[in-house]
Amino acid sequence: MTEERLTLPGFRAAKREGRKLKLVTAYDYTGALLADRSPVDAILVGDSLGMVMLGYSGTTQVTMAEMLHHLRPVIKGAPSKFIIADMPFGSYNVSCEQAVANANELMKAGADCVKLEGGAQIAETVRALVRGGIPVMGHLGLTPQTAAALGGWKVQGREAAAARQIIADARALEQAGAFSLVLELVPTQLAAHVTGCISIPTIGIGAGAGCDGQVLVWHDMFGLYDRLQPRFVKRFAAAGEAIAEGLAAYCHEVDAGTFPAPEHSFNMKREELLRATAEREREPVAQPEPEPEPVAQPEPQPEPVAP
Ligand code: KIV
Repeated sequence: MTEERLTLPGFRAAKREGRKLKLVTAYDYTGALLADRSPVDAILVGDSLGMVMLGYSGTTQVTMAEMLHHLRPVIKGAPSKFIIADMPFGSYNVSCEQAVANANELMKAGADCVKLEGGAQIAETVRALVRGGIPVMGHLGLTPQTAAALGGWKVQGREAAAARQIIADARALEQAGAFSLVLELVPTQLAAHVTGCISIPTIGIGAGAGCDGQVLVWHDMFGLYDRLQPRFVKRFAAAGEAIAEGLAAYCHEVDAGTFPAPEHSFNMKREELLRATAEREREPVAQPEPEPEPVAQPEPQPEPVAP
């Protein structure tokens, strides 16, 4: 566990003091308990839950109701961590009022801040949220909610023009009042440059070691989801393989009759068993209900012959 719960000023202080921020996603109570006992600084309830928890093909389908459903148990399970809630696609692109109303719901559920995807084009929305007292984390580079428009899941900002846009977007988010931003799938050199250009901390995922912090998706880092295996993910534990082995062993032992063993089972006193089974034998044998008489069916009438 970290010494103290991270705060908003703590994000900037970490950058100033060169302390790396460690973030991880979580989507349920059990995961949150594990993260709460770990040294990570903050938990992101990411809309990646659409893929790893709900089986969607991307994050765009995720709704506010689904985000709230997963956010609440994480908040219960990780009281000592700073909690970031993703705003799902469609929850902030209609108007500033819509964005504030939806962000309010996430904050009322217990989030410490919200995360939105986009750069200069969402600066107005970020301003409205910050004016409303809602801390905002930005998200630039590969933005999964609009990945199709970016040409799929690929590295962003490799060419100068695209890189310049990411730098401008990072500055726009900082000026709009964002307190931190995620840089996803951008070249290491660009991420390091952006990190040096702004005073708010950058959190990288597939963005190299020059960011102020890192974030990973739970199911990726523990080998629980193999539909997508991006190169930037490192598996820190093979939990998926351990579970597969456990399932095979369970089936084998049930077939072999070695599970459940006496230590997994419960006994009763012999005399209680004898009384129970003897009494049962003395119980009057229930008589079956008489079968109802079959109802006579009318004889089928011959079809009338056409004249
Ligand atoms: O939804 C998510 O998990 C994210 C991370 C990839 C940063 O946004």
